[in-house]
Amino acid sequence: MSLLNIRGLSVTFDTLQGPFKAIEGIDLDVKELDTLAIVGESGCGKSVLGHAAMRLLDDIAAVKGSVVYRGREVYSMSREELLEMRGKAVSLVPQSPSASFNPVIRIGKQITELIEKAGVAHGGEAEQRALTYLERVGFSDPQAIFDSYPHRNHWLA
Ligand SMILES: Nc1ncnc2c1ncn2[C@@H]1O[C@H](COP(=O)(O)OP(=O)(O)OP(=O)(O)O)[C@@H](O)[C@H]1O
Ligand SMILES: [Mg+2]
Repeated sequence: MSLLNIRGLSVTFDTLQGPFKAIEGIDLDVKELDTLAIVGESGCGKSVLGHAAMRLLDDIAAVKGSVVYRGREVYSMSREELLEMRGKAVSLVPQSPSASFNPVIRIGKQITELIEKAGVAHGGEAEQRALTYLERVGFSDPQAIFDSYPHRNHWLA
């Protein structure tokens, strides 16, 4: 079954130097159980493509083309449909945590919120899961990470 069909996807940022076309005319198809790796030099547009496929650039860029996920056009989805798709069916792991987390909200709260939004668990149970996930990825003191703000990196020392 076809999972993702992208046709003619282009993203243009409006910059002080004028319009900047980050990606242009991307076509790709992913079937169920496929693995697709996109490789290219830094700045070639891999992250922009990923963000555009999840419709995360609407507010900051002109996006053209079509992204169809399981037969549904992502750019015609309602907000509810988008939230249903993101996090549960389609996930994005951002490459720069310091730029991707909200700097003024503690890490634990941000992870707990995701778990709750995904409907996996709520309240104290969601917090427990967040701690478990932090432990699972190798932090020796998950509670310290949970209680920290994203800009603090004392645990890396
Ligand atoms: N918000 C933005 N405004 C203006 N230009 C942007 C914006 N976001 C990305 N770009 C530009 O779009 C181009 C593609 O960036 P992108 O982050 O997709 O590259 P990448 O292939 O993911 O690189 P890397 O391998 O370093 O992660 C770059 O030239 C980048 O500067
Ligand atoms: Mg990138």
